[in-house]
Order: sequence, then structure tokens, then C-alpha cells
Amino acid sequence: MFSKDGNQKDIKTPRIVDVVWHDGEFIKWNDAKVHVMSHVLHYGSSIFEGIRCYSTKQGPAIFRLREHIQRFLNSAKIYRMDHAWTMDELCTASIELVKRSGMDQCYLRPILFRSLDEEHPAFGVNPFPNPLACYIGAWDWGKYLGDEAIEQGVDVCVSTWNRLTPNSMPAMAKSGANYMNSQLIKMEALLNGFAEGIALDDRGYVSEGSGENIFLVTGDVVLTPPLSSSILPGITRDSVIQICQELGITIKERTIQRAALYVADELFFSGTAAEVTPIRSVDRITVGQGGRGPITEKIQKLFFEITKGEHPAPGEWLTYIREQKPAAADNNGFSAAKIGKDDSDTAPILSFQTAAQD
Ligand SMILES: Cc1ncc(COP(=O)(O)O)c(C=O)c1O
Repeated sequence: MFSKDGNQKDIKTPRIVDVVWHDGEFIKWNDAKVHVMSHVLHYGSSIFEGIRCYSTKQGPAIFRLREHIQRFLNSAKIYRMDHAWTMDELCTASIELVKRSGMDQCYLRPILFRSLDEEHPAFGVNPFPNPLACYIGAWDWGKYLGDEAIEQGVDVCVSTWNRLTPNSMPAMAKSGANYMNSQLIKMEALLNGFAEGIALDDRGYVSEGSGENIFLVTGDVVLTPPLSSSILPGITRDSVIQICQELGITIKERTIQRAALYVADELFFSGTAAEVTPIRSVDRITVGQGGRGPITEKIQKLFFEITKGEHPAPGEWLTYIREQKPAAADNNGFSAAKIGKDDSDTAPILSFQTAAQD
């Protein structure tokens, strides 16, 4: 049933950071373990983030750290995960981890989940008796959809699987369980020879890829599905919207029909892992000229210049690691320095935080 090829496609051995942040202290990678009877393994009770730290001339810089942590806090709130971590503590932990990694660039993975109280174990669906655990791991991750994809684009299909319905699993929370749906989409695409699948929402409108948001270019206008099409409110999506505004390109949130994908001039994915990746065909129908279109190239170029610190960002998008003061460390070597634009735990309301109407 499973072709060898489909199984092998995603396999690359990443360079990992050998320390992991765990509830306020740094532990060895090999010690970052959970009990197999943890609630999360049985019922999918985790929320997480994916954040890139880029190599710049001024050293490593984390991309839109506060926005990612804000989404992490939002996801935890939706799932009633009553933890004590603040925006500043989680930002500081992420910065410390990059410092300790010694890497120039990496990918950060904060995760909060329901584990197991071994003295008073609870095994039911009710998550409340289970303690929460928070970790941040990191590794070096290359181009998610392949090195050539950035220039040449990827071949994708429309999935037979729909994205989540808003009243079943909230797509705006980045929960581990949502990625069972993503896995169905991804496996089907890979086994049919495509790099990625695009899911429709429950009404039949275009939603997103298994791990990316999608943009469509028609003439000189860029369109992207609204949050009401059951998408994750992507931080790269928000960045692309702001980049379009900076470039004077008209950008609109619109419901998009499947057929519009086939007749688009250009299509591209956005995501922390996928960055800005052109789509060159959908269901074996060539998109535009087949490859990276001129508007995608313009947006992609500015995106990469901003992430490399070579072009000013529309906001405070880069947290430069070397500029962060080493704050007094506590007993665990964990520092509680405040970082970012202000001292509050409340980030400004951004376009990715609310479910916009069509
Ligand atoms: C389902 C899904 N949609 C969209 C995105 C893009 O979001 P972001 O740009 O914040 O990485 C991701 C990646 O995290 C994703 O998993």
C-alpha cells in the first residue's frame, strides 16, 4: 500500500541542539522524555509553535518571536491550558536556547502538553487532572519543500481530505491534534507523487496546505483565504500581507474556489517552514507559466532580505540574539530578562489573531 518513495521523501537528518528548555531549566536532549501513558500521546492534547531563527550579518535573529509566542498563548487559552508562563519568560527561554545552541540559524519548537502525574495517574479524556509540561527544542532545518522549490516551485494536488470545521477543531489554535488532519493531506499527496496537498474547507472553498497558507495572484492582485476558511492564522501569511502593502501590491482576503487555483497567474505557499514557496502546478494543471511568477518573486525576494536583516522590516520582526542582555541567571541558569518592544504581556492585535470575515 505504501510506496517506498512516499515514505522516504521527507527524510533528512537534521542537526539538533543538544539542550532543551523544560519548565524553566535547560536539560540535555536525551533527558527530554515523557511517560508513554501521558495524556498527550492518547488524546492529542498539545499546542505548539514553529519559529525560525535566521542567520544575519549581526548574528542569529529570531523571526517574529513575540507574535509566535502570542499565538502559542492563544492556543493554550483556547484549550484551557492553565499554565503560568508569560510572554517574556517564553521569549527569554527561546533566546537563551539559541544562545546555547551556538548555531547561526535554527528552528525553534515550543510545545505545551498534558503529561502524566505518576503519583496520581489519570487516564480519561478529561484533561484537567493531568499536569502541564512545557518544552522548547531546536534544530537546524533547511528548505522544507526542497532546495529547488524556492526557485522552481512545487507540484501539488487538491486533497480529498477537508480542513477542519470551525466548530469541531479550531484551526486558529496550533494544536498537535490538528496535525492528524495535516498528515492525511500530506501522506495522500506524497503517495500520489505530489510535494504537498491543498485542503478545501467544509464548504468547498480553498483553505490551506497541510503546513502552509496559500496565496493566489490574478493580474496584479494577490488574494488569500480569510480565517473563516479554517486556516491557521499564519505569521508568514501576516508578513506577506504587510510585504505586499509595502510593495504597493493590492492584497485581499477572499474565499477562493478550487477552480480559481487552475486559472491563477501565480500561486505560492507561505509558512515558517516553507517560507515563500511557489506552486508550479495543481492537479497536474500548470499554474501560469509554470514556475515562479514575477509577483511571487518580488514578495519572496523582500521576505528573504528582511529575514536576513538586509532590508528593514515593516515592524520589529527580528530579535537579534547578540543584542539581548544576559540577565542574572537563577539557580537553573534560566534568565528572566525582559525582551521585545514593551514590558507588557499583551502584544498588539495583529491581523492573524481574529477571524476576519470574507
Ligand atoms: C496548517 C498550517 N497552516 C499554515 C501555517 C503557516 O503558519 P506560519 O506562517 O505561522 O508558520 C502552518 C505552519 O505552521 C501550518 O501548519
